Amino acid sequence: MDRIVIEGGARLEGEIAISGAKNSAIKLMAASLLTSEPLRLTNMPRLADTRFLGKLLTRLGAEVEERDGPDGAETVLQTSEIISAIAPYDLVRQMRASFNVLGPLLARSGQAKVSLPGGCTIGARPVDLHLSALRALGADIDLHEGYVYAQAPRGLIGAEIAFPFVSVGATEHAMLAAVLAEGETVLRNAACEPEIVDLADCLNKMGARISGAGMDVIRIQGVSRLGGATHAVIPDRIETGTFALAAAMAGGEVRLTRTRSDFIANLLDKMEEAGVEVTPHNDGVTIKRNGQRLKAVTIETDPYPGFATDLQAQFMALMTLADGESVIRETIFENRFMHAPELARLGADIAIQGGEARVRGVSSLNGAQVMATDLRASVSLVIAGLAAQGETEVGRVYHLDRGFERLEAKLGACGAKIRRLKGAEMIEDLTADA
Ligand code: EPZ
Repeated sequence: MDRIVIEGGARLEGEIAISGAKNSAIKLMAASLLTSEPLRLTNMPRLADTRFLGKLLTRLGAEVEERDGPDGAETVLQTSEIISAIAPYDLVRQMRASFNVLGPLLARSGQAKVSLPGGCTIGARPVDLHLSALRALGADIDLHEGYVYAQAPRGLIGAEIAFPFVSVGATEHAMLAAVLAEGETVLRNAACEPEIVDLADCLNKMGARISGAGMDVIRIQGVSRLGGATHAVIPDRIETGTFALAAAMAGGEVRLTRTRSDFIANLLDKMEEAGVEVTPHNDGVTIKRNGQRLKAVTIETDPYPGFATDLQAQFMALMTLADGESVIRETIFENRFMHAPELARLGADIAIQGGEARVRGVSSLNGAQVMATDLRASVSLVIAGLAAQGETEVGRVYHLDRGFERLEAKLGACGAKIRRLKGAEMIEDLTADA
């Protein structure tokens, strides 16, 4: 198993180009199942999760070609025909977003058998909203032996679907199924994340008729077929926020490019409140901190445009060295503080009660061996390691590789003393936190 070793104390100076968004790319890849024509996705991140989904799609009948295009990495996916409508447990367990192939398989071939993903380290994460949306669209759904058996032999039918609370995955899943349903579907209390807008934009290029994406009511006029398209994946807002927080933690000045500061407006406001200099520009944002101690700031995670739960761990890392007490409330997932005891190994003072963490800033952190349970938790430990005295060794790096492209190279190019120690290949122990 690889480990990452960071020698703390180096300031960061330079520029980091942000990659395409993991959480958009994997839903866009699933959308390719909806057509027999090629879908060309540009600005693709090359990650363990995208490779993994590529393998699953191949089993379902897709041809997946990764190549270098004029603007960087791209992937062309073409599913001339669905050769299997089964997504088995061993694959869905490893990456829960694989569950989202259910809707497209059902819409295109009238049936699917997809494993339930089960829980994961950050929470129970049921899929009841996904299933009730598909049922509302007329699918016959049975659950047995851990599998969803779904059928809609005469096709899906548009419906009114009011989600009881906001779910990114269920909103995307309902869109992926409703585009080929007969008649109009209205999604109420829909998620508004940029990844939802990206999926709608791509589906519309493929011939879908979706309006309102990015707002809480989305309308979809079903069409009888979709075609191919070329679509550029949006920049990864979580990677953007993570490097912004890394720069603030280490000190120095880093220009983040090929991204959008408006995607992380809430985070940038909180960082300014803490005393970080934030300068948005038309290609991203510049983050600057010159030695001064930051102030403790309170945050609460919420659906977009609120503070992203996927940035909570990284923000907590920043707050470990702030002046005063920061209260961090996690409202999206019930078990997303697994990084706190690891940060405590570096000397952080964090008390957890239910969904609330109280972080009392300390004057310094000290390097130690730590390990993480999920993707964002592991990168929070890297951020803490950048400012800790001495050496921090982060274990279970395979979590990081799921969602951060060339993390060490990007930070190293800005002066971070960070390196990877190669270990034995680790495939079996992936947990499905994404
Ligand atoms: C997406 O997960 C992201 N994953 C997560 O990023 C992100 O943390 C999350 O949205 C929230 O922003 C991908 O896009 C692949 P939800 P998703 O459905 O869609 C509950 C990362 O690190 N719920 O919005 O699964 C659920 O348990 C990952 O990149 C139900 O109860 O999140 C949670 O408490 C981690 N029933 C809440 O809703 C359902 O049917 C919001 O989850 C669905 C969800």
